[in-house]
Amino acid sequence: MSHKAISGFNLAGMEFKTIIEPFKIHSVAAIRMTTESERVQLIKDVGYNLFSLHSDDVLIDLLTDSGTGAMSRNQWAAIQRGDESYAGSPSWLHFKAAVQNLFPFEHIIPTHQGRAAEKILFTAIGGPGKIIPSNTHFDTTRANIEYSKAEAVDLVIAQGRDPSDTYPFKGNMDLVELESFINATGVENIPVVMMTITNNSGGGQPVSLENLRAVSAICKKYKIPFFLDACRFAENAWFIRERESGQSERDVVDIVREIASLADGMTMSAKKDPLGNIGGWLALNDNGLATICRNLLILTEGFPTYGGLAGRDLEALAVGLTEAVSHDYLKYRIQSTAYLGNALLELGIPVVQPIGGHAVYIDAKAFLSHIPPLEYPGQALAVALYEVGGIRGCEIGTVMFGRKPDGSEVPAAMELVRLAIPRRTYTQSHIDYVIEVCSEVANRASTLGGFKIISEPASLRHFTSEFARI
Ligand code: F0G
Repeated sequence: MSHKAISGFNLAGMEFKTIIEPFKIHSVAAIRMTTESERVQLIKDVGYNLFSLHSDDVLIDLLTDSGTGAMSRNQWAAIQRGDESYAGSPSWLHFKAAVQNLFPFEHIIPTHQGRAAEKILFTAIGGPGKIIPSNTHFDTTRANIEYSKAEAVDLVIAQGRDPSDTYPFKGNMDLVELESFINATGVENIPVVMMTITNNSGGGQPVSLENLRAVSAICKKYKIPFFLDACRFAENAWFIRERESGQSERDVVDIVREIASLADGMTMSAKKDPLGNIGGWLALNDNGLATICRNLLILTEGFPTYGGLAGRDLEALAVGLTEAVSHDYLKYRIQSTAYLGNALLELGIPVVQPIGGHAVYIDAKAFLSHIPPLEYPGQALAVALYEVGGIRGCEIGTVMFGRKPDGSEVPAAMELVRLAIPRRTYTQSHIDYVIEVCSEVANRASTLGGFKIISEPASLRHFTSEFARI
């Protein structure tokens, strides 16, 4: 198989096509081998829900890139420096300085992960009658908004809803729609405008600096706070450097700081680009809102100088934040994700294009077009990838988004299966194996059938629903 599409590694002036991981392995975790017949039984035993599998029964775990990355030896060394003082720990000061180096917001409020920051923010500013627009809200963001009885609205550009469109910034907000939304809804009902960078639920697609500047200007014009959901900020900044005119000479750190300067605050899951296994924060400039949020933090997370984290976690993140913006790392990260995506395209497997930063999204609607949306083609594909090759991906389609707050079920805009790539965890041979398994699933595509849900919880149903084959 040829992978010329991913060439471009430039070592000592020569172009080589092999992507070398810009690290060597420091500590390993064994993978337990399983057979297809074992996996057919294992997935049946858990009601065909991939979240219910034991991870020891998974060969290549692409369920998420969240908290699943490998830490560097410098991060492990920093863990030893962790100071567990309840208040005012030096580890807190290291963490705060590392965050503010990239995101110079006035108030940094540490949380145990991203959704805790969301819960605090929307408890403070959400509530009945409020409507919160974003390019596309991630599912926990949406759930926290809806839990506060506010409404979440997605205003991504039209190209962002078309898996085969190759526009370079498919995470962009539709600016015309945003302004007409603001005029129709009334400024007083919009406590914040959010932007998810990169746009995870829309295929891991980046947002351009131009679009961020424009959204920021609209928010200033209407005096509405503008917040980033910045989990994958470094990957987004790398895409800006690679794809946006006038940006190719800039340091990623400089781009990140400009992005931060456009916003009034942010939520963060430090389990993604900051290279932590746990962590997050809420950051903002508004003093009054910060006081409300810190009081909520103390109720459920912890004292303001550690939030939901141990001192050692704060140290690991302080180091991770410096590694996340390394150009060598980001170049490898983005090219190695594209390596998988382009190989699937060469096999004729439909994937969301262009290839995103942290994951490859297979378009299950196109891949398994014989399975109707309400028979969950994404789930059918995710189950097949596990049965055939022990690969665990994640359905991002009607299972995840189909149940509406009023109880009705409607097909999601896209039926995707996300193969998320944990950071610095798998090598190219693991990915070559994933490509082979996908090829085998493609051979069997016409024989795959749909699923029905036999039990489901009140919300976030993809985590715990049980399925049966139709
Ligand atoms: N926002 C985005 C864009 C996310 O992708 C996630 C998590 C969160 C917020 C919530 O952060 O997990 O630390 O509470 N995404 C993970 C994923 C779970 O698999 O994409 P968290």
